[in-house]
Amino acid sequence: MKILVCKDYAQMSEKAARIFAAQLILKPNTVLGLATGSTPEGMYAALVEKYNEGKIDFADVTSFNLDEYYQLPAENDQSYDYFMKKHLFNHVNIENYNLPNGMVEDVEAECKAYEERIEAAGGVDIQVLGIGKNGHIGFNEPDSVFIKNTHLVELTPSTIEANSRFFASEEEVPKKAVSMGIGTILKAKKIVLLASGEGKAEAIAKTVYGDIDPMVPASALQLHNDVIIILDEAAASQLKPEDYTIVK
Ligand code: PGA
Repeated sequence: MKILVCKDYAQMSEKAARIFAAQLILKPNTVLGLATGSTPEGMYAALVEKYNEGKIDFADVTSFNLDEYYQLPAENDQSYDYFMKKHLFNHVNIENYNLPNGMVEDVEAECKAYEERIEAAGGVDIQVLGIGKNGHIGFNEPDSVFIKNTHLVELTPSTIEANSRFFASEEEVPKKAVSMGIGTILKAKKIVLLASGEGKAEAIAKTVYGDIDPMVPASALQLHNDVIIILDEAAASQLKPEDYTIVK
């Protein structure tokens, strides 16, 4: 794992955007793996800026998001479809974007079809990830086993509580989601994990130093050979300075 520490959220977002922009320049038909949450918002804004400056083009890009709520219509302003349009898709020339469809009757078939769509596109070239305070990635919550493929997830009380800040009340937060599995995520050729703020410091330390343990889903990233973790100083506060590079 390569760990980069930035002075703040803005620098972390710009650094991540530069890595994604370089990928798009080198491979215009890149398959992107995308994430929602407040962490990547700054990176998406920086990518939109680079697109507006004519530095990057999404015409040949395909994207696959990590997850989507179950039974929450795309039009709902809390759906991840809505989030991606608001922060990225409506502002760039991407046409071929994909999120798991949480509105289907046969969710098992949708999970299988999502895996097949990723494979048919050639697999994810570069995947961005946030991390939950409990170490989740996508909606892969702490569990007794790593779940391999795209699947229906029962959200944990802590995730429901964390997400309730976006809904009028905790009751309105969906209790299930469709998420790529740990195996799906690990198949990406390159992974960029972003974390910002003191609240993520412990999850990051466990991801980097802990055992590979399904109770800390992000610890599975130790099994991947091309992971870049980009942090702000607060999220890096439980790491040893000799283990990271400071971004100038
Ligand atoms: P956040 O969520 O970016 O809103 O902190 C990250 C996550 O829970 O995966």
